[in-house]
Amino acid sequence: MGARNTTCFFFLLLCIFLSTGPSIASDVLSHGQSLSGNQTLVSRQGNFELGFFTPGNSSSNYYIGIWYKKLQPQTIIWVANRESPVASPSNSKLTISATGDLVLLNHDNTPIWSSNSNLSSAGSYLAILLDNGNLAVTNGSDSGLYLWQSFAHPTDTWMPGGWLGVDKITGEYQRLTSWKNSDDPAPGLFSQSMDPDGSNQYVILWNRTDIYWSSGLWNGQFFSAVPGTKESTAFNFTFIDDKDRKFASYTILDSNVITRYVVDSSGQGRQWYLFASSQKWTTVFTQPLDQCTVYSLCGNFGVCDDKNPTVCSCPDGFHPTKVQEWDLNDWSSGCSRRTQLKCGDGDGFLKMVNMRLPANLEKLMIGSDKGCELACKNNCSCHAYSYGSAGCSVWKGEVRNLQQRHDGDGGGDTLFLRLVASDIPSSSNSHRRTLAVTLGVVLSAVVLVGAAIVIAWAYRRRKQTRASEQAAEGSVIRFSYSTLQRMTKNFSDKVGTGGFGSVFKGVMPNSTLIAVKKLEGLRQGEKQFRTEVSTLGAVGHVNLVRLCGYCCERSQMLLVYEYMSGGSLDAHLFHDGCTFLNWRTRYQIILGTARGLAYLHEKCRECIIHCDVKPDNILLDEEFCPKVSDFGMAKLLGRDFSRVLTTMRGTVGYLAPEWISGSPITPKVDVYSFGMMLFEVVSGSRNTRSSEEEGDHSFYPSWAAREVIQGNAMRLLDPKLEGVAEAEEVNNVCKVAIWCIQDSEERRPSMGQVVQILEGVLDVNMPPLPAALQNLFPQDQDQDPIRHSQREEEQDSIVAPEGST
Ligand SMILES: *[C@@H]1O[C@H](CO)[C@@H](O)[C@H](O)[C@H]1NC(C)=O
Ligand SMILES: *[C@@H]1O[C@H](CO)[C@@H](O)[C@H](O)[C@H]1NC(C)=O
Ligand SMILES: *[C@@H]1O[C@H](CO)[C@@H](O)[C@H](O)[C@H]1NC(C)=O
Ligand SMILES: *[C@@H]1O[C@H](CO)[C@@H](O)[C@H](O)[C@H]1NC(C)=O
Ligand SMILES: *[C@@H]1O[C@H](CO)[C@@H](O)[C@H](O)[C@H]1NC(C)=O
Ligand SMILES: *[C@@H]1O[C@H](CO)[C@@H](O)[C@H](O)[C@H]1NC(C)=O
Ligand SMILES: *[C@@H]1O[C@H](CO)[C@@H](O)[C@H](O)[C@H]1NC(C)=O
Repeated sequence: MGARNTTCFFFLLLCIFLSTGPSIASDVLSHGQSLSGNQTLVSRQGNFELGFFTPGNSSSNYYIGIWYKKLQPQTIIWVANRESPVASPSNSKLTISATGDLVLLNHDNTPIWSSNSNLSSAGSYLAILLDNGNLAVTNGSDSGLYLWQSFAHPTDTWMPGGWLGVDKITGEYQRLTSWKNSDDPAPGLFSQSMDPDGSNQYVILWNRTDIYWSSGLWNGQFFSAVPGTKESTAFNFTFIDDKDRKFASYTILDSNVITRYVVDSSGQGRQWYLFASSQKWTTVFTQPLDQCTVYSLCGNFGVCDDKNPTVCSCPDGFHPTKVQEWDLNDWSSGCSRRTQLKCGDGDGFLKMVNMRLPANLEKLMIGSDKGCELACKNNCSCHAYSYGSAGCSVWKGEVRNLQQRHDGDGGGDTLFLRLVASDIPSSSNSHRRTLAVTLGVVLSAVVLVGAAIVIAWAYRRRKQTRASEQAAEGSVIRFSYSTLQRMTKNFSDKVGTGGFGSVFKGVMPNSTLIAVKKLEGLRQGEKQFRTEVSTLGAVGHVNLVRLCGYCCERSQMLLVYEYMSGGSLDAHLFHDGCTFLNWRTRYQIILGTARGLAYLHEKCRECIIHCDVKPDNILLDEEFCPKVSDFGMAKLLGRDFSRVLTTMRGTVGYLAPEWISGSPITPKVDVYSFGMMLFEVVSGSRNTRSSEEEGDHSFYPSWAAREVIQGNAMRLLDPKLEGVAEAEEVNNVCKVAIWCIQDSEERRPSMGQVVQILEGVLDVNMPPLPAALQNLFPQDQDQDPIRHSQREEEQDSIVAPEGST
């Protein structure tokens, strides 16, 4: 007691002394000093500053924070007292105690925030603001031994040199937690940390419970779903997993780039870049890309809509719970009912069509629409129901994660939301009368529909017997795990390892061979998984590997494919000991692959982007007919996750530039990868080679493209072919390849056009040299004779204008 009073008195004296004393113009706060008012610490080289700030447009709440000193507007990277602002900085102060705690004191010297450094002994401790933005406590000698540091306690920002992980001894996680909104650094609902289940990946969670994004597992080089971590020359990413702790850390190698990673209050993680030349922050990647993928972004009863500029809205009969927060795009308070439920006949249901159904449904074993409605109506805690192919689902308590879908999105369901009858808009209230009126219309329609069905059936019969391309539709079989175990002899014959798991050979009872893919690291809901599987099962083309079944039991998810006895294209191209492919066969493989991809892009009910086109994913049957495998994985991982998770699929070297820039992904990414693959099929070796192997052109396409444009396509040809190839075909394939790897998507042809060119229906112009091949590999520039001299011959479009042939 006595000691404490003395300390307080001491602080008081200090306070009086300092408020008239000199300001701190240093990077160090030592015992006995304090920071108050507009005083700041500035790191030695002037990169960072620490002091009081007011966030956003609020002007009454002050926080201790760290920001970039040289950048405008102020960008905060760390906040001390994020939950407890002070009203006046001149009456508050930041000090360092004799036991090494950084403490923020209120006007009456009550501590508001403390670093809880938990040092056992008293000493002459210092706090130093370092030039990487880290605030560190040391024991006096700047020994590099930090007793406490802000990098170990990040707020929403992960700085280069900082780390994010878990202390295996204390079980403590470092996590990034979003600001509530731009005016309030208090912890929001979104956070990123190492997977609490222990896998080596990062996850982003809602309220620390619901995972809605994961980085993909650390594969020794990068997190598989995070583009740009490895191929970027700017980052040095390291992951350490030892007996004490597990964490990742990154540094930036280019001193002209300033970067930071932030989990923002929209629930998305973003890597921000600031280039010295532009002085503007830009995001290089965002995850998840779709805002509505963020779990419960719009709060309880809120409806998320990616296509609506305001993103969140409330359904009829509801209003935003906290309008002021909604105005700051902080929708976490969700929506509230205008009128409380009557819990009886006074309630009705609002019909909402084409919705992603809310989370946390409860399934009822009720076999009718009416029964489902009644079941919900009879329990006052039921807020919504939906009756569809998956049966009767009801929502009791909260209704989170609702999303409005649009035409063409697919996967939408109809939800009936409980409201007091008076709040239901008349258009949906009057459906009884409308029903009577339309009954007559419906009856006559039934006759027409009946006729249509007969015609359609007849047509389908004809089509089925005719087209070999169109395999039997929707015939995916559901297997039990034990059946698959039996058929694969307990997964004993492993034939490959892909991006998402291992592939095992198996035999069906009718002795058909199958390939069983065991998916790993999936966080997909079972219902969604089944929906996607049935979509993929309906995809049938002679150049696509057929999905014939699946298994989804507990956390086990497996896919069953037809077995391809010819192995994969990469084995034939790159490995000795496999059957050698002559030019004729290679050309047929190229054409077949193009047809398969064109079908995925253009002919399927929903466009499927493969996202990982490469020789390893082209399988051959016994007659070397190519079949594209592994398509649809992106969608299988969850429609909402697709665009981001798909990046997990892309393999360095085949990745189109838009993956890294974070712009929306279109089928043109497959075109790009296909182009890269063509070079490999022609040359018979990998595009990326170790430089010792092939002399001076270590990234083959940049050399190859120049040769082709100079008219030397035959020089690319696999030496093993000994020049035996149709020169015209080689030339065309090479030109197509260069068109496919153009930087801008618009310049790349569609897969349909590629097929037409390869079939000889369209002619192909001489392509321009893609600029990225120069920028990425500037060391090649000196030996570039064509860039200028051949400019005039460059064409803007892949096909010659009509009539010019
Ligand atoms: C800090 O505040 C004092 C008094 O409030 C003022 O005189 C001084 O100019 C301010 N310094 C800066 C750098 O703003
Ligand atoms: C602050 O308010 C201005 C004007 O109302 C607005 O344009 C600006 O975006 C706001 N800034 C933030 C960070 O909310
Ligand atoms: C420090 O000690 C206090 C009280 O003993 C405890 O509440 C706090 O969690 C500890 N902090 C750390 C970082 O260990
Ligand atoms: C600081 O800590 C280091 C290592 O624990 C120790 O060697 C040194 O004597 C300490 N310095 C002071 C001033 O306490
Ligand atoms: C978040 O979780 C905590 C308990 O883990 C719970 O008390 C709280 O209500 C949750 N927040 C929301 C918005 O559901
Ligand atoms: C990347 O970081 C690791 C560990 O921090 C270091 O050993 C390595 O030299 C760094 N690589 C480069 C290219 O700086
Ligand atoms: C309504 O549902 C809740 C939650 O499932 C349950 O606890 C309650 O007993 C139900 N009430 C009635 C009247 O069925």
